[in-house]
Amino acid sequence: MPHKSRLFSQIKIRGITIPNRIVISPMCQYSANDGYLELWHTIHLGRLVMGGAGLIFTEATAVHKNGRITHGCPGLWENGQISNHAAITSFAKAHGCIPAIQLAHAGRKAGMQRPWYGNSFLAEADFARGDLPWSCYGPSAIPVDKGWPVPQEMTKADILSLIEDFAASAKRALQAGYDALEVHGAHGYLLHSFLSPLSNQRNDAYGGSLKNRMRLPLEVTEAVRIAWPDHLPLFFRVSAVDGTAGGWQLDDTLLLAKELKKLGVDVIDCSSGGIAGSATAANVDKRQPGFQVPYAASVREQANIKTMSVGLITHPLQAEDILQRKQSDLVAIGREALANPNWPLSARETLTQDNHYNHWPEQSGWWLERRALSSEFYKPK
Ligand SMILES: Cc1cc2nc3c(=O)[nH]c(=O)nc-3n(C[C@H](O)[C@H](O)[C@H](O)COP(=O)(O)O)c2cc1C
Repeated sequence: MPHKSRLFSQIKIRGITIPNRIVISPMCQYSANDGYLELWHTIHLGRLVMGGAGLIFTEATAVHKNGRITHGCPGLWENGQISNHAAITSFAKAHGCIPAIQLAHAGRKAGMQRPWYGNSFLAEADFARGDLPWSCYGPSAIPVDKGWPVPQEMTKADILSLIEDFAASAKRALQAGYDALEVHGAHGYLLHSFLSPLSNQRNDAYGGSLKNRMRLPLEVTEAVRIAWPDHLPLFFRVSAVDGTAGGWQLDDTLLLAKELKKLGVDVIDCSSGGIAGSATAANVDKRQPGFQVPYAASVREQANIKTMSVGLITHPLQAEDILQRKQSDLVAIGREALANPNWPLSARETLTQDNHYNHWPEQSGWWLERRALSSEFYKPK
């Protein structure tokens, strides 16, 4: 090995030491029941814990029932929802993994179809399944796209209660045992839709200038930071660019990151896109391996804050290279972890040449090492 692996070095953020720099990105499962996590989530996240990532995010979790993306999205808007999260956090901690959660409000994208039913606004076929629409709100009465529901423009009272909802959910996340929390400010959901001039055309203190468009995301972050203990890390996910003419730009992200840092945000998680249409990351230049890494690198360097890169990072050498070049402090893996939940364990073998299965759960590592010592693997003739 040419150098010590940075991917497998630990990192301390506030009072929490993350054992390696692989993060499992938040990924909606669209499988919650009335906002409650199901056994599915425990097993899905549990197998990722066994896979060896340093920190694992529970998917976008709504701070209000109306802030769910779909009928299958979970929430932490009431105390009864806490205990199903606790099963996951205690399992993660028992296996040396940091449990983290993303808090979100879907805003004008609330009430969508589950992706496999179309990933668009709810329609007749969904109503027949019992998935009825609910009214959504946003910064202005501008729909996501043609044909989508027109959101109600949020009043000052709506804004104040949203801030309280984020803070109350953060307190519930703490009770559930999470050690890190992320505010979802990306992908066209509510906070991003306040930032972007494409979706925010208000003419009060929450719209117009960049300062005004940043006001709500910053007020939410401030309230969450107060609710979330000082010794625990706070992340903020941005769409670093809208990727659409006249939209949110990287320079805006740099200013936002500096303001977030002042409020006590520790890591900027750099995604992109999503302001128009249904896809998570639409309208962004070329989707190629690591296409969002330059955003994380710019924010890290110019806003002087820790960053997490994400998006088409699939190879251990690629992940290692990003960290060696100091483009980000953490690397998040999404779909690749769905394809191979043991990706971090395999990456460790690739990068450290440690093939003694020492880092695998002992329930499997013991066997795998013996198999490796005793047998020849199948080789095609
Ligand atoms: C099934 C699925 C669900 C997702 N759900 C979320 C989510 O809850 N919150 C979020 O910020 N991003 C979500 N994303 C985006 C991922 O976190 C990640 O940023 C994106 O997939 C790019 O990383 P990848 O190329 O490693 O998959 C989701 C992506 C997938 C594939």
